Amino acid sequence: MAQEAPYRVCFAPKNREEEEEDEKIYKRYEEIVAKLPTTEGWSGHLIYQYQGFWYNSEVLGAAPLVVQRHFKARPSDILVASTHKCGTTWLKSLTFAVMNRKSHPPSAQHHPLHIFNSHDLVPFWEFNLYNNKNNGNRIPNLDILPSPRLFSTHMPYTSLPESVTLSDSRILYICRNPKDNLVSWWHYVNKFRSILSLEPMKVQEAFEWFSKGMSPMGPFWDHVLGYWKGSSERPQNVLFLNYDEMLAEPALHLKKMAEFMGCPFSSMEEEEEVVDQVIKLCSFENLSNLAVNKNGTTYPGVSNSSYFRQGKVGDSANYLTPEMMEQLDRLTEQKLHGSGLTLSICHLS
Ligand code: A3P
Repeated sequence: MAQEAPYRVCFAPKNREEEEEDEKIYKRYEEIVAKLPTTEGWSGHLIYQYQGFWYNSEVLGAAPLVVQRHFKARPSDILVASTHKCGTTWLKSLTFAVMNRKSHPPSAQHHPLHIFNSHDLVPFWEFNLYNNKNNGNRIPNLDILPSPRLFSTHMPYTSLPESVTLSDSRILYICRNPKDNLVSWWHYVNKFRSILSLEPMKVQEAFEWFSKGMSPMGPFWDHVLGYWKGSSERPQNVLFLNYDEMLAEPALHLKKMAEFMGCPFSSMEEEEEVVDQVIKLCSFENLSNLAVNKNGTTYPGVSNSSYFRQGKVGDSANYLTPEMMEQLDRLTEQKLHGSGLTLSICHLS
């Protein structure tokens, strides 16, 4: 039988009064959401626009707003942040493996990453922890989790809880070139659409949604720029990572991550090849072939295998027309102009 995800300890039963209090809080934020601009989204659900970004109302409800006002950060917290399909699953695995390497050596046969999908080890605020209608605990007691706590989010930087951006907690953000991001999202969306018995979305439609900024928690460029700016202003607190660069030089980036997280690899660990062991443990080849990731599910209806497709740079060229690629390049250039950030894959392909 599948084991319970470890984070579920924070869903200890609440009494009736506490549950009703949670309900009242949600109701307040649901009323705010009801007044926001909405439109039909990419998977047939309504999407709403909050603080400049698009959210799936069916999947998330008012959870992002509740997180924003109710999450209380600790300075020791570590947050894995990203927009959809930028390598979140991978970054969660790497972060978990680095942070827990003393208690769970990466070469161990029974490493938690062999038993759980990384989304079960590094839960999302807005998908896993908050808004759990089923267990009657919609605002979990995260105080009971030991430090350092490890969370994740797809929420944009500018909408993070103030207690995170004003505290010393650390954020690892991963982005990716927009062409591969779009193609990865398009494949993923079509998995959802098939579960919902909807016609598959054509790549042209996905391109149009994405270009208009209407991908999940898009606009993609604003999401990336928010964290980019955060990392320039608070480099000790926000580490900005790029999937494409990480694939090209994993050891370099893993060491940077460990240092940033306050647990650098010692020279002894380097000699013992712990860096390589973490990379191997978290590699696409290893994780995608584990039983838990081939057969398991993390959310009802979402198979863990849907987080693993190709794990390569440049696959978008197999799906996008040259015109779409050019348009996306132009759009990216315009959006990032003056920021000092480039997200091209030309130098890698
Ligand atoms: P592709 O669809 O291009 O293959 P997210 O985790 O944010 O949903 O992103 C999913 C993307 O990351 C997918 O990209 C997926 O294949 C890739 N991915 C998942 N696990 C990976 C790993 N361990 N190493 C590299 N890429 C990985």
